[in-house]
Amino acid sequence: MTINKITVVGAGVMGRGIAYVSALSGFQTTLVDVSGEQLKNALQEMRILADKAIARNKITESEAGHLFTNLHTSLDLASTVKDTDYVIEAVPEKRDLKKNVLETIDAHAPKHIVIASNTSTISPTELGSYTKRPEQVAAMHFFNPVHRMQLVEIVKGLETNAEAVGIIREVAERMGKETVEVNEFPGFVTSRISAMVGNEAFYMLQEGVASAEDIDKAIKLGLNYPMGPLELGDLVGLDTRLNNLKYLHETLGEKFRPAPLLEQYVKAGRLGRKTGRGVYDYTNVDERIKK
Ligand SMILES: NC(=O)c1ccc[n+]([C@@H]2O[C@H](COP(=O)([O-])OP(=O)(O)OC[C@H]3O[C@@H](n4cnc5c(N)ncnc54)[C@H](O)[C@@H]3O)[C@@H](O)[C@H]2O)c1
Repeated sequence: MTINKITVVGAGVMGRGIAYVSALSGFQTTLVDVSGEQLKNALQEMRILADKAIARNKITESEAGHLFTNLHTSLDLASTVKDTDYVIEAVPEKRDLKKNVLETIDAHAPKHIVIASNTSTISPTELGSYTKRPEQVAAMHFFNPVHRMQLVEIVKGLETNAEAVGIIREVAERMGKETVEVNEFPGFVTSRISAMVGNEAFYMLQEGVASAEDIDKAIKLGLNYPMGPLELGDLVGLDTRLNNLKYLHETLGEKFRPAPLLEQYVKAGRLGRKTGRGVYDYTNVDERIKK
């Protein structure tokens, strides 16, 4: 089956990045959210991203034109997925919410299509169990910022069949991504390591081991990480990081207990780039976008 139409559910940090890459890769792409404001912000960020890409000769004016012709937005999930070839779910990392969204997608999308979830941690077997097509459900884990990060981690659930994995791999490759196949385990490979390092950096900040700037500088220059764990947390979204840690704490135990300081930042609404303030300050929209 040829995939032409992709629906991306959730227009947040990841959904907008996935929709950008999807539309740029030639897929008719519809980005769905419950918030009109989020859809508006997503389009604004994609415009800034495309303009920067043109200025840096990464894409041509004509490619950017096609991107925006291929891109649509919707507030109506049920009717959008009725006419789609593939769905990528990217709503917040909360099981009840994902259950609700997956049930709606499953009830309205054509029976034969694959439903992929951009979950960072949650078991694809569990996500598949929320649908009547568990053999066509798997995790398709993108990285932030989606247009720059090469990898897609594909995680099969117990019932996921080889055909679905093949379709997910094909979609990822058409988006210009490399893939790895990972066996199901909470946090897969990347989220488990990233959550552990990010949480430890928050404990160090809380204990006064060093300033945020020096923790990040030490890890970048001393361990050769491209970004410090605290600035990466701001990019990921501290609420998303906390949700991931809570799930890993529940499933893998004490070593993933979220740092109290991280919980405090989230309570204060300091969620990172997306709200303009996290560990660091991001004063304008343009600065919030990782080019
Ligand atoms: N942020 C990251 O760096 C990152 C990286 C990889 C994977 N992920 C995963 O991607 C998923 C999304 O994370 P995010 O950081 O983009 O979250 P986010 O909070 O930035 O965005 C989520 C979006 O989903 C929308 N939404 C909420 N309920 C909805 C519904 N019922 N229907 C449609 N839209 C709805 C929200 O309005 C919001 O725009 C999570 O599973 C997360 O674990 C995140």
